[in-house]
Amino acid sequence: MNEKIKEIINKKNKKKIVCLTAYSKNIAKILDRHCDIILAGDSMANVLYGMKNTHMINLDTIIKHSISVKLGIKKALFVIDMPKGTYKDTSTALKNAKKIIKNTGCDAVKIESNYKNYTIINKLVKSNIPVMGHIGFTPQFKTKFKIGGLTSIDQKKLLVDAKNIEKAGAFGIILECITKKTSQKITETLKIPTIGIGSSTYCDGQILVTDDMIGLSGFYPKFVKKYVNLNKIIDRAIQKYKKEIINGKFPKKINSF
Ligand code: KIV
Repeated sequence: MNEKIKEIINKKNKKKIVCLTAYSKNIAKILDRHCDIILAGDSMANVLYGMKNTHMINLDTIIKHSISVKLGIKKALFVIDMPKGTYKDTSTALKNAKKIIKNTGCDAVKIESNYKNYTIINKLVKSNIPVMGHIGFTPQFKTKFKIGGLTSIDQKKLLVDAKNIEKAGAFGIILECITKKTSQKITETLKIPTIGIGSSTYCDGQILVTDDMIGLSGFYPKFVKKYVNLNKIIDRAIQKYKKEIINGKFPKKINSF
């Protein structure tokens, strides 16, 4: 098993796992100093391309961004989201996962659960392709937002799903927008780490979309904490730049040849 993956699994019950998304080198380089896992998420569909959901982003676009992300990573585990439709059956999944790894040099791929793609996960793992699962609110398979695990029936369904993903060989699972109680139950039951997004502190680690937590995306649901308002900071810088061009303060002698 990949050493970085072993380290991530070993953190369970010892140290929290820190994860964020990146779509380009410059952001990845900053994240790499602090994060255990960097995900090139298909959330780039909404965040970068203004699509209404993640359903139309294609594999080549994800690969192009991931090639850039990889340039910024020296130590974090690099995981890439397989876009919708690229793992619809075992042979398609294997062909596309191999293409992702070959073109980007990433460590693992992430697959959203539709409550039945366990053989696909198992096939990839057996072919030496590490897989991360993703349960709860899985944007590729859902159009309407729903919190997971609110009822005991749903809690049981999610727990079974998580166990099946672990059994199939995944090294970790994202829990998206799942209640505290259900996240705790899943985290305590599984041997592999759970990474929460909107799923409470009971998870073994946390992930957010970087553009949301740095205040760039304009998307701030309840589970996002905005750690900085970069939008405002960049806006101020651009305003100053514009002003200085207009009043002749930029470029100065020092900026000229
Ligand atoms: O695409 C993405 O960024 C994700 C995270 C929200 C977990 O899947």
